[in-house]
Amino acid sequence: MAKKVAILTGGGDCPGLNAVIRAATLKLTRAGYEMVGVRRGWRGLLDNDYIPLDLTHISGILHRGGTILGTSRTNPMKEEGGVDLLVDNLRQNEIWATIAIGGDDTLGVANQLRGKFALNMVGVPKTIDNDLSGTDYTFGFDTAVQIATENIDRLHSTAESHDRVIVVEIMGRHTGWITIMAGIAGGADAILIPEFDMSVEEVCEVVRKRHDRGKDFSIIAVSEGAKLITKEGEDKMVTQSDEVDAFGNVKLGGVANLLAKEIERRTGFETRSTILGHIQRGGTPTAHDRVLATRYGAKAADMVQNEEFGLMAALQGDEIVAVPLEVAVGERKLVRQEFWDLAQTFFAG
Ligand code: F6P
Repeated sequence: MAKKVAILTGGGDCPGLNAVIRAATLKLTRAGYEMVGVRRGWRGLLDNDYIPLDLTHISGILHRGGTILGTSRTNPMKEEGGVDLLVDNLRQNEIWATIAIGGDDTLGVANQLRGKFALNMVGVPKTIDNDLSGTDYTFGFDTAVQIATENIDRLHSTAESHDRVIVVEIMGRHTGWITIMAGIAGGADAILIPEFDMSVEEVCEVVRKRHDRGKDFSIIAVSEGAKLITKEGEDKMVTQSDEVDAFGNVKLGGVANLLAKEIERRTGFETRSTILGHIQRGGTPTAHDRVLATRYGAKAADMVQNEEFGLMAALQGDEIVAVPLEVAVGERKLVRQEFWDLAQTFFAG
């Protein structure tokens, strides 16, 4: 009888998920495995919610954003009896191995299930935030950077026409990867990210210096998770509410609005704010993300066939390799000093 392999997508969606599903399903189906798609991440394993996956299901999905399987931020570790139910369901449905495509939350669960129950888990690194360790890049990141950069370009022309400062808020819950890359690519005049401090007054100085040189407009890129430092010793992260999800994550958003108000109050220059939000996660993946996601999906299939469990497909240099899941979810990958130094070179430029 063919061995059954489940595949699931958990956490926030991102462009390229379908490319992973396609590559892994194609390779494993051709190798004689039975593929089953789990609906809505870990939720589907608790609810026994599956769809069969064969070559017809994966046709025409390479370029499509989102995930054909659906996703959720369900954390089985936080549900009463959740883990036992999940393990029972896997056994009763004779699911031999699971490919979990996700970020630190989803892969953290896969790592714990591997550690506690020796389940056959393979991970694939997904997140627009690019904050997973053990891999140089996650898929979805390139697309998000591209979208953010295009938007910065658009904001430039309207800011210049109106002699305005525009603050653009970019996603990235714990890290400033998307913001710093899009900020550098889009020529932002100042960039605020969680990893390095830049106070409101320092931003205002940049804006004033530009005006002194006859540049009456500025673009400020701010990461949703950046601290708003109003004066020495006074900083805050801006959240939409006090609510947290099943993984303890707060809902960020709104720092751009507060920053814009402060800039206008302190400098007297007309300032607007734009929050890019989920626009950065939607739509078709870039060619780069399609190729990377396809390589990850193919690697995950190889790992299943070679019974290399407890590992995640990863990009190191130009090689696709396998790294322990615990490395991937251990320490968060932060923006390095090198990128911050580079970005700063152009502040007030
Ligand atoms: O982790 C990806 C991400 O897009 C973060 O950048 C952002 O903070 C979060 O997800 C938003 O989550 P949700 O889709 O639940 O609003």
